[in-house]
Amino acid sequence: AVKRTPFIAGNWKMNLDHLQSIAFVQKLAWALSDAKHDFADAEVAVFPPFTDLRSVQTLVAADALPIGYGAQDLSKHDSGAYTGEISGAFLKQLDCGYVIIGHSERRTLHAETDADVNAKVVAAHRHGLVPVLCVGETAEDLEQHGASAVPVAQLRAALDGVDVSKGLVVAYEPVWAIGSGQAATPAQAEQVAAALRAVLAEIAGEELASATRVLYGGSVKAANIASFLREPNVDGALVGGASLDIDEFSSIVRFKK
Ligand code: G3P
Repeated sequence: AVKRTPFIAGNWKMNLDHLQSIAFVQKLAWALSDAKHDFADAEVAVFPPFTDLRSVQTLVAADALPIGYGAQDLSKHDSGAYTGEISGAFLKQLDCGYVIIGHSERRTLHAETDADVNAKVVAAHRHGLVPVLCVGETAEDLEQHGASAVPVAQLRAALDGVDVSKGLVVAYEPVWAIGSGQAATPAQAEQVAAALRAVLAEIAGEELASATRVLYGGSVKAANIASFLREPNVDGALVGGASLDIDEFSSIVRFKK
């Protein structure tokens, strides 16, 4: 089996302004620079608001910090009359490695459809960005269709016509677990992660499927991260609230299985 490097991603959402982001990244780098963290064990990335990205880039580049970063969204268009939108080209210019696409808050609060999500995945690839593609079911979906059906359908739609070899991280985030303090059980996360990987294998072949990281997100904390990472198909976490606290987030990064 392929060894997948665990990926711990912090989605700041609309928190930490430009100045706060500078202080946060400096403190995080310091917190992770002790001997207890071996960066071969886990890859770390933060996803700040757009207005912080230039500062984060400068800090990371100046000290060659082993912290990746990306944006929380991008436009499906490359340039033009799209007021308020941010192009993947701009993100690439700031050396973003990743971009979150299809977060449930975008789908729900900004009416993003599966077709929008698909177009954004294609746009990310056009600019050499790796999508962190979010999928997940609501409590109602869970009750009506079970855990895997909606995330699997969202994954298929998002990857329509997509060349997965251009890079992909999948994040399974059950909507009912986001910000609720009620995480999925590791067994639930594993069941869906395995179903998503099976779809990846069907779409992109076994080799790419086994190289692609599938994260769990939804009320991840230092106290439960290890239980998720013990599952064979869960390769890391997309962390919201707990990614805003240096001690909590650095403890998550230093998980011990
Ligand atoms: O994208 C991460 C997120 O939606 C999970 O949020 O606060 O439950 O960790 P939280």
